[in-house]
Amino acid sequence: MKYKVLVYDTKDYDRENFELLKGTDFDIDYLDTKIDINTAKLAKGYHAVCVFVNDNVNKAVIDVLYRAGIRLLALRSAGYNNVDVTYIYQKIHVVRVPDYSPYAVAEHAIALLLSLNRKIHKAYNRTRDHNFSLSRLQGFDLHGKTIGVIGTGKIGRVFIDICLGFGMKVLAYDAFPYEDKRINFVDLETLYQQSNIISLHVPLLNDTKHMINAKSIAMMKDDVIIINTSRGGLINSSDLLDGLIKRKIGGAALDVYEEEASIFFEDFSYEIIQDEVITRLIALPNVLLTSHQAFLTKEALSNIVTTTLNNIKDFFQDKPLQNEICDACKKAATCEKKHRCF
Ligand code: NAI
Repeated sequence: MKYKVLVYDTKDYDRENFELLKGTDFDIDYLDTKIDINTAKLAKGYHAVCVFVNDNVNKAVIDVLYRAGIRLLALRSAGYNNVDVTYIYQKIHVVRVPDYSPYAVAEHAIALLLSLNRKIHKAYNRTRDHNFSLSRLQGFDLHGKTIGVIGTGKIGRVFIDICLGFGMKVLAYDAFPYEDKRINFVDLETLYQQSNIISLHVPLLNDTKHMINAKSIAMMKDDVIIINTSRGGLINSSDLLDGLIKRKIGGAALDVYEEEASIFFEDFSYEIIQDEVITRLIALPNVLLTSHQAFLTKEALSNIVTTTLNNIKDFFQDKPLQNEICDACKKAATCEKKHRCF
């Protein structure tokens, strides 16, 4: 059997990796466009559809896919907050790529922190303009500083290891803490109060949405640096902006933004962006923003495609779906499935 797969929201780097790794079992078509109620209709006749982080798989899209005969949704991501997992349950199986490269994301978070702190983005522009002044480029030693890591899963742990290598003190918060003498697991309030830098590595769920807000920001140290490579919705962006403008927050390094879906991955350099929060954030000297590129390494892209293709094959060969995600998995963190979620 040849598996016909329709892949949404693709860029050249996605297509190159799929073409390189698909072998003879797959017949793949690629769309530039994201999935919505109109583009979902194109899935008719395919065995599976494959989407990315900013494809909004809501109730209406799920209905269209289901009517088109789709029974497998393959996510090219670890996060699945863009899928209505409650509604899709018992209609369409959802598989994801849980750990394509925690190093890619953790290393990007560190790159953002180092660049923001040492003002590399400013220095780069200066020297290109033959401006060799060091004025206002001062940073601080990371060594000895306290970093608060929220979420100590695969990415959080790699991130912590790097921070420990820098000689930082690590405070951590997770719904499921683990034993590690090098790390001090604390409650969120303590983490907010004692950290010089805070980095987010939890998934976006109902109880993590806007966890960084005016109230939590007020608890933080003055000049705190906030890093978010997880999901934009973890931060109330208006409150973040307010904290930056009032100089409570010393800097923000962001790879994600809560309203990124209509902006990221596209070139708007000749347009006028209507979202005033992001344009204001970008304009601040102490904000560094990348457009959801933390995953973008050679190894991660290759792993994403390999796991996605294996997920699809496992489904059609009636094998247990290691990487299936469902409503129950989401609520219990560990689903008790044996073979499939339903
Ligand atoms: P993971 O599932 O290994 O770790 C998540 C951790 O969060 C777990 O330890 C879990 O116990 C904890 N957690 C879950 N709910 C919580 C809550 N309510 N309160 C406190 N802790 C909670 O996930 P992984 O691989 O480390 O990824 C983390 C996040 O990174 C993903 O959910 C995704 O949103 C984001 N990500 C971003 C990428 C990017 O390119 N910017 C790429 C890949 C992932």
